[in-house]
Amino acid sequence: MWDNYPEIKEELAAFEEYLAEKLSSRNEFLQTACRSAVLSGGKRLRPAFTIITAMSGNYRREVVFPAAASVEILHTATLIHDDIIDCAKTRRGQPTLAEKHSINLAVYTGDYLLAKSLRLLVETGLEPERLDVVARAVSMLCEGEVDQYLGKYEFASVHVYLKRIMRKTGILFSAASLLGAKAGDLDETSLKLFGRFGMSFGTAFQIKDDILDIESNERIEGKPVINDLKEGIVTLPVIYAVRNNPGLRGEIEEYFDGKKDVRQILKKVTSSGGQKDSHVLKKKYVERCKKYLSQLPVSIATRAMTEVIEWL
Ligand code: IPE
Ligand code: IPE
Ligand code: MG
Ligand code: MG
Repeated sequence: MWDNYPEIKEELAAFEEYLAEKLSSRNEFLQTACRSAVLSGGKRLRPAFTIITAMSGNYRREVVFPAAASVEILHTATLIHDDIIDCAKTRRGQPTLAEKHSINLAVYTGDYLLAKSLRLLVETGLEPERLDVVARAVSMLCEGEVDQYLGKYEFASVHVYLKRIMRKTGILFSAASLLGAKAGDLDETSLKLFGRFGMSFGTAFQIKDDILDIESNERIEGKPVINDLKEGIVTLPVIYAVRNNPGLRGEIEEYFDGKKDVRQILKKVTSSGGQKDSHVLKKKYVERCKKYLSQLPVSIATRAMTEVIEWL
């Protein structure tokens, strides 16, 4: 992903070693569980955002690495809890902790990782005002997840959907970038722009994830697909398909009542333009990312991020 940026690749490789060192525990189960959860081949996008954003300012590894590790460990904790809630049996191509052990142990491991994430924030040595962004992100992430959970089997508007995904996914990308900007002592304007960039990136990222849940397969994604609708979560492609083809809503409700096959429904979502229209909205957020980057002074961060958004 960062092939054109050897400086970034080097820093991320060093970060990977740092991260592994931070996962020890006197409790053998927790140590093994934390290592298997964190070191199982995630893309490391969020800590990369922290590191790269900081690289455009006054870069100090001793501040940036704990910040980035805190963000990635927090992300992993949310995935462990998310997989319990979503009844997902695989993640990154491997059985989830809940599947391998038990839901109870997975909850504890998620909590333990959250605590590790907090301790790493303290290790940054940054002032509490600068760290507040992470605390706020966790609150909003929970709000987004709970809102989605309470809205199961309901057909949300695009507006409600967007509010949800900004909270459950956008905010952590935003916080990751902001934390990097703060760690690198960037000016207020840059802070704001990197924060907005992260939010737009995360929003596009979740729309992509929701499209892939319908189009991709478990082997490629390493996690269950067609899981959203199975769990009663109505995502953007389905919202658009129903808008374009109102008769589909009744069929989906029949599916929720166990009277229809999910594959049939998904075919209709596709033929009603669900994914096609979702791509269009995703592109809007990609354009926003570009806009924010273009307003920032050119740096290694803006150049690398401009390339990364092409992947969305
Ligand atoms: C998965 O995030 C959760 C979503 C917000 C869709 P990632 O796709 O960044 O997960 P890993 O860390 O690379 O596995
Ligand atoms: C992920 O949402 C958001 C958080 C983990 C907070 P999803 O449930 O869509 O993510 P995947 O598809 O399981 O990775
Ligand atoms: Mg999930
Ligand atoms: Mg998903």
